[in-house]
Amino acid sequence: MNGMSPKKSHEVHRLSTCIRDFIRECSPFVIDVGAGQGYLARELASPSIPSARPMHVLALDSDMDQIDGAKRRGGCSPGKREGCAHPDTDGSPCKCGSITYRNAFVSSDSLVQEIESWIASFPCDTQPHVGRTQSDHARTYPVIMTGLHACGSLTPTVLRSFVSLSDPDSAPPDSHSSGIQWKPSALALVGCCYNLMKESDFPMTCWDGFAPLKLTRQHLQLACQCPYQWTLSDASWRGSRLSRKKVVYRALLGRLLSQHAQAAPDVLLQGKKLGRLNSSAYASWSTFLQQTSSRLGLSDILDPDYHLGLEPGHGFPEEFPRLAPRLACLHAMRSLLGPVIESVIIADRIVYLVDHLRPNWNIHAVNVFDLASGSARNVALVVDQPIDDGQG
Ligand SMILES: C[S@@+](CC[C@H](N)C(=O)[O-])C[C@H]1O[C@@H](n2cnc3c(N)ncnc32)[C@H](O)[C@@H]1O
Repeated sequence: MNGMSPKKSHEVHRLSTCIRDFIRECSPFVIDVGAGQGYLARELASPSIPSARPMHVLALDSDMDQIDGAKRRGGCSPGKREGCAHPDTDGSPCKCGSITYRNAFVSSDSLVQEIESWIASFPCDTQPHVGRTQSDHARTYPVIMTGLHACGSLTPTVLRSFVSLSDPDSAPPDSHSSGIQWKPSALALVGCCYNLMKESDFPMTCWDGFAPLKLTRQHLQLACQCPYQWTLSDASWRGSRLSRKKVVYRALLGRLLSQHAQAAPDVLLQGKKLGRLNSSAYASWSTFLQQTSSRLGLSDILDPDYHLGLEPGHGFPEEFPRLAPRLACLHAMRSLLGPVIESVIIADRIVYLVDHLRPNWNIHAVNVFDLASGSARNVALVVDQPIDDGQG
């Protein structure tokens, strides 16, 4: 598919198929949260499978660069809805899709506002395709919420919004200018980057089973690990070795700094952060030390010649070669816990949906991607339209 890596292409194909299979009877109106470069949004609006129904998609991302990139890839101009947005001349529902890119940070409030103004931009006589709850939704746009790798807090935010907006006791939000109403009708969400979650994002449910669990920053970092993939190919093995090396070098740096605590109290006391470094910084210990000491303002104190096996006169040569493999081993063993922690996070989200949605909603956790494709985060939370029980 257009401009995508094989992994991304696989993910977009599988998730868009999942949306169509599970959410067959829902509306063609879709919100793609954290749309990034807009790959999923474009596949939904303009499917590569000829028999698939095109959808109207609102692609939201908080990063302007992503939105600009998505527009360039999709050939769209700012704020404009691309594709046909008009009903057919015979008055039947619009059969072609469209895509609207917007730069917006998704919170529960902004999500409602963005959807409202988008829905309001459709011509009043555009009739939504209605689902099984036809009588109730005759004048209501059913809206599907989706996200591919909706990172960190974005997934919990959207789950909470979906639950509160789909509550039958809450009035459907309406678009002020047009009076058109809409309701979330389905959800298909794949989370990722658990390390970016906020403390309040876990547990989402009050279920006793999760109450004693507290996930620290270290747990959330581990949840991103997928040891199963380390040995899938030579490239993934090289990648996993590099990440272990990063962890080991950073741990050794921590030890080095603590040895220099007296000489460099400012760094330690002011809590300076090293931040992200390019992979090239890890080419060798001395390169790493050179870059980190200059970033931390410690060039006078940390000597880049402290590399493994040299004689710096600070006791490190004996200690580091012994410590490094042990740290690598410890990191590998800790990483085995990653999938367990991820499962706990996903289970909490499922229990939250089960607890808060009416029983007539269908809730699925779908293994949507093939792990061998390199897609570590592969569980989609899918919620589809309730069977109409006559209670709204
Ligand atoms: C991991 S990327 C996934 C991008 C795209 N869906 C894909 O799979 O290629 C996550 C995206 O979500 C966006 N994002 C994260 N939190 C967000 C928020 N609260 N509101 C809007 N966008 C957000 C980021 O800017 C980023 O582009």
